[in-house]
Amino acid sequence: MKITILNGSPKGAESVTMQYILYIKKKHPEHEYNIINIAQTIKKIEKNEERFKNILQQVGDSDGIIWGFPVYVMLVCSQYKRFIELIFEKEAESFFKDKYVMSLSTSIHFYDHTAQNYIRAICDDLGMKFFGYFAADSWDLLYPKRRHRWLIFTEKFFETIENNFPTTRQFQPLNHRKFDYIPQSSTTKEEKIDTQGQKVLIVSEDTSESTNLGKMVKRFRESFANDVEIINIDDIDIKGPCIGCAKCGYNHECIYKDKDGFTDFWTNKVMKADILIFAGTIKDRYLSSKWKLIYDRAFFNNHTPTIIGKQLGHIISGPISQIPNLKEMLQAHVEYQDSNYLNFITDEFGESEDIDALLYNFAKQAIDFSVANYIGPRTFLGEAAMKMFRDDVYGRNRFVFLADHEYYKTHGVYDTFPQNDERAKKLNEKLIPLMKIDKLRNKINMMQEFLRPFRKVLSDPDK
Ligand SMILES: Cc1cc2nc3c(=O)[nH]c(=O)nc-3n(C[C@H](O)[C@H](O)[C@H](O)COP(=O)(O)O)c2cc1C
Repeated sequence: MKITILNGSPKGAESVTMQYILYIKKKHPEHEYNIINIAQTIKKIEKNEERFKNILQQVGDSDGIIWGFPVYVMLVCSQYKRFIELIFEKEAESFFKDKYVMSLSTSIHFYDHTAQNYIRAICDDLGMKFFGYFAADSWDLLYPKRRHRWLIFTEKFFETIENNFPTTRQFQPLNHRKFDYIPQSSTTKEEKIDTQGQKVLIVSEDTSESTNLGKMVKRFRESFANDVEIINIDDIDIKGPCIGCAKCGYNHECIYKDKDGFTDFWTNKVMKADILIFAGTIKDRYLSSKWKLIYDRAFFNNHTPTIIGKQLGHIISGPISQIPNLKEMLQAHVEYQDSNYLNFITDEFGESEDIDALLYNFAKQAIDFSVANYIGPRTFLGEAAMKMFRDDVYGRNRFVFLADHEYYKTHGVYDTFPQNDERAKKLNEKLIPLMKIDKLRNKINMMQEFLRPFRKVLSDPDK
C-alpha cells in the first residue's frame, strides 16, 4: 500500500513526529511511505501552483493518508494550518475525499485533544474516512510498551484500509450565517465610555469597513470616549513563522528578535495593555493561519504567562458557537496566563442593533472589570494547564526550558509543589491518624467537616 504522510513539523526530516513514521517503516517495510514536508516548505507550496498540484496528485494516488504533526499552541502550527486553508481555497477537497486517514500528533499532551479534534473535523469536512487518532507523548517511542501500542494502532489502520472497513463521522458541517452587520445609530457623546486610564488594545486581522469583522471592531472602538489603540495583524513586522528551534527555552529570546518586530509588538504592545481584544474571522475550524502565526510566535515566552492580570476577549465573525473546540482553546489561553476571559462577541445571532448593544456592553464590562482588577477563578482549562507546565518544566524538560524554570522558582509556581502546602500538611498530619480509627471515622460527618472553615468566614463580620 502507498501511505502518504503529510508532515506538519516545521523541522521537516528532523521532526520527532516523523521518527514514529520511520519506526512503522522499519516494522512494516512491505508498504511504501511517502513523506511530504508540508509545514517546512509551505512558502513554496503556496507560491508554486505546480507543487501544490503535485502534492494533491500524491494524495490522490495513495491508499492511506497520515496527518503527522507536532502540537503547536493547542493546534497544528500556522504553516500546516495554511496548507489546510489552501485545500479549501483551491477547492481541492476531491483529492482527499474517501481516503482512509489517521492522525498522529506528538506533544507533551498539553491540549493535544484540541489539535486532534481540529484535524478530525477537517477530515470530516474533506469527506475522508477517519480511522482514528494517536496522540503520542513526544518520548513515547523510547518506551517498549508505548512503542508497541503505536504499532498495534497502525497495524489496525492498515487492516482497515485493506478490508475497506467502515468509519464514523463526528462533525456536522459548519453552518455559515448570511448576514450583513450594519451598525445602527452611533453611540452618543454622553454614552461613550471613559476608559478611566485603562489601556485598551484591539488586535484585528481586519480594520476595513467592508466586512462584518471590520465593522464590529469599529463599532466597539467607538464605544469609548478616549482613544484606544488598534493594530492590524498585517502591520506587525513578522519575518517568518516559528520553526520549533526551541532556542527561546534558555532565555525567552526568539531567533527573530533582532530581525523583525514581533518581540517588540508582544512585549511593548500586548504586554503593556490592560484590556486586550483580539478580533478575527473563522477560517475552517479555527481562526486564520495569520492569527495562528501570532499565537505560535508568542511561544518565545514558552510556558511563562505574559498577559497577566488583563481582561481579554474576542470579536469574531463566523460560526464560533458551532466550534466548542475553538472556544476552549481561546479561553484556556487566557486562563493559564492569569488573566480574565471576558467573552466573545460574534455576528452569529440577532440583528445589527443587538450586536451594537452587545459590543457596547462588552466595552463597558471590560473597563469595569479592569478598574476593579477582577480576575475570575480559573476553570479546569487554566488550572490543569499550569499544573502540567509546572510538572514538565520542573522535571523532564527543565534543561530545555531553563528560563521558565527560573520564572517558576521566583514567582511561586513551585510553592505548593509537590506538597509544601502548609495548610494541607497540617490538616493531613492531624486528620489522617484519626481517619484510620474505624470508630472515629464512622462518627465523622464529612459534610459538616468540610463546612467548618466556611462557618468562620460567614460568621466573622470583618471578613
Ligand atoms: C511553538 C511550539 C508550540 C508548542 N505547543 C505545544 C502545545 O500546545 N502542547 C504540547 O503538548 N506541546 C507543544 N509543543 C511541543 C511539541 O509539540 C513537541 O515538542 C513535538 O514533539 C515536536 O515535534 P516535532 O519534532 O515533530 O516538530 C510546542 C512546541 C513548539 C515549538
